[in-house]
Amino acid sequence: MKIANIEFPEKPLFLAPMEDVTDAAFRLMCKKFGADMVYTEFVSSDALIRSVKRTEQKLTLYDEERPVAIQLYGSDPVALAEAAKIAEEADPDMIDLNFGCPVKRVAGKGAGSGLLQDIPKMLEIIKAVVNAVKKPVTVKTRLGWDENSKIIVDLAEEIQDCGAQALTIHGRTRSQMYKGDADWTLIGEVKNNPRMKIPIIGNGDVKTAERVAECFDRYGVDAVMIGRGSIGCPWIFGEIRHFLNTGEHKKQLNFDEQKSILKQLVLDSIEWLDERRGILHSRRHLAASPTFKGIPNFKETRIAMLRAETKEELFEIMDKI
Ligand SMILES: Cc1cc2nc3c(=O)[nH]c(=O)nc-3n(C[C@H](O)[C@H](O)[C@H](O)COP(=O)(O)O)c2cc1C
Repeated sequence: MKIANIEFPEKPLFLAPMEDVTDAAFRLMCKKFGADMVYTEFVSSDALIRSVKRTEQKLTLYDEERPVAIQLYGSDPVALAEAAKIAEEADPDMIDLNFGCPVKRVAGKGAGSGLLQDIPKMLEIIKAVVNAVKKPVTVKTRLGWDENSKIIVDLAEEIQDCGAQALTIHGRTRSQMYKGDADWTLIGEVKNNPRMKIPIIGNGDVKTAERVAECFDRYGVDAVMIGRGSIGCPWIFGEIRHFLNTGEHKKQLNFDEQKSILKQLVLDSIEWLDERRGILHSRRHLAASPTFKGIPNFKETRIAMLRAETKEELFEIMDKI
């Protein structure tokens, strides 16, 4: 499978873009475990144009994480084209456009999935960005706005016609937010449409190696993108890759191995941000990690772990588990 001229191994696994999760430290870690493609958190085109410092920091990329895409969002074609030029200077392998974010502060302002209610503008944005940059431009969106407007099969053709070089589909509507189950049947329909030539990346609720194998075999997608399944569990990419290659489950990392990866994640986040923000940032991983699931009488330790404010305090708690 190729996106533009970037070649991927068979059955590639992509790390989903996630705000406050996929910073450089986490991307590098997922890459180390076998993610074949990573994305930055979404980056506001308006903030980029205004040179907001925290936003600019999101453009820091490392060679070890390639191929990597910078994901942009916004509602104005001219602003997005300008932001894409700024992003291009950071030398990403691709620029991805977010037409999927469902949260009010984004969709309510006509950005992210809000553009599923204004398709002409969405297409105008894609064309403007494709014309503005030399890097390949890709798109990530949902099935449609709501149950009555699951337009993705026709929309995918239009997105392709505007020059997008790959399309990621999260199998939910905007109205669903993150509720209900992701519906992969329409993703399969897009992939089976003979008019579609660009790679289709399927996304939504994929958390196990068996499910990844099923998504490739049943829906024929070119890549599978994993989001929440990687939070607090970056080794998921290695486990799935092993299963896809051998048909057998990899021996699971033991508890101490998992814990030391999570501690490294905390250290990386602290280095990337600072101690206070790094610990806040790591809490999402610690809270979601399968490592601590099912430990008897764990509630109090868990609360203490998620309240710790310094690295010493946090590691002391983790070391005792
Ligand atoms: C915490 C969080 C942050 C997210 N931020 C983004 C984002 O910045 N850009 C984007 O396109 N999608 C974002 N998403 C959506 C994911 O990329 C993905 O489409 C969604 O979580 C479904 O995949 P999953 O079931 O594997 O998690 C986010 C999801 C989560 C849970």
